[in-house]
Amino acid sequence: NRSLVTIANHSKERILYLLEMAKEFEKKPNRRLLAEKVVATLFFEPSTRTRLSFETAANRLGARVIGFTDPKVTSSSKGETLKDTIMMVSNYADIIVMRHYLEGAARYASEIAPVPIVNAGDGANQHPSQTMLDLYSIYKTQGTLDNLNIYLVGDLKYGRTVHSLLMAMRHFNPTFHFIAPTELRMPEEYKLYCQEHNIKYIEHTDFTEDTIADADILYMTRVQRERFTDLMEYERVKDLYILNGKMLGKTRPNLRILHPLPRVNEITYDVDESPKAYYFQQAQNGLYAREAILCDVLGITLDEVKADTNK
Ligand code: CP
Repeated sequence: NRSLVTIANHSKERILYLLEMAKEFEKKPNRRLLAEKVVATLFFEPSTRTRLSFETAANRLGARVIGFTDPKVTSSSKGETLKDTIMMVSNYADIIVMRHYLEGAARYASEIAPVPIVNAGDGANQHPSQTMLDLYSIYKTQGTLDNLNIYLVGDLKYGRTVHSLLMAMRHFNPTFHFIAPTELRMPEEYKLYCQEHNIKYIEHTDFTEDTIADADILYMTRVQRERFTDLMEYERVKDLYILNGKMLGKTRPNLRILHPLPRVNEITYDVDESPKAYYFQQAQNGLYAREAILCDVLGITLDEVKADTNK
C-alpha cells in the first residue's frame, strides 16, 4: 500500500525525489495526470490550507474530488465507525486524504483501506504532507537542506507539524533549537529520537533578538486552544512567545520565517512586511508538494510527470 501516514520512513533519496517532483509542478501546475481518478477528502477536524490545497492539487491534475468538511453532517454523527466510513469511501474513491483528531487514525485507516490513505494530520501526532511543503520551502529559500539552524517556537508538545519536520530533517544534519513554554515543551519521545539519530538540539527559555540571531529558519507555531483540556492553562501560555518586527534586527540575511498557519497572535502583522516572512509563500508551495504527493501515492513517477507536456 502506497499510503503516506508518516514521513519517518522516507529515505533521503525519497524526500529529494518528491521535492524534485514538486519543482516540476511549480513550473507547470496543470497536468491531467489523474484524469478519471477520484480523490476523497475526509476532514474530521477543521482545515483551510491542507484541504483546499489538496483539492486544488487534485483539480489541477484533472481528478474529481468528493468529501466532507464537517463530520456532523455525515453518518459518523449517527454512530458510524471510522472503519465503516473508510471502507465505504474506498468504494467511491481512488485515494483518501484524511484529517482526524485521533493520533494513529491515519495508520489505522491505511491498514484497513484497499486504497491509499494520505495523512492530512492525526491529532497531535504527524502531518507529513505539511512537512513536504516545509522542506520544499526550506530548500527553495536556503538552496540546501543541509546543516541548517532551525528554531521551532511555540507549541512543540501538540504541534504535529514540528514533530514531522524534526523526523524528516534527520537526513540533513540540522541543529534544532526548541523554544516553548514549560507546559508545551517538545515531548521526550522526540528528544530521544534526536539522540538516536544524532540530531543536535538546544532548548532555550528566552525568545529575544539575541536568541534567534543565528537562525536560518524560524518556524513559529500556534498554541492550539483545541488541544487543551484546561482552558486556564491555555490562557496562561498562549501569548508567551510572540515574534515582532523589532526582533529581526540582528537576524541573518538568509533567515526565513515559516509558520504552518493559521496564526493567532504569535507573529505581529508588521513582520509580514519583512522579506524574511515566508509563511504565505510556504502555503502556496503546499499546492506543488501535494500535487507530487497525490501523483506519487497513485504510482505516477517523476519521469511521467516530466514527460507530460500537454497543455
Ligand atoms: N497548516 C495547516 O495544516 O493548515 P490548516 O489547518 O488550515 O489545514
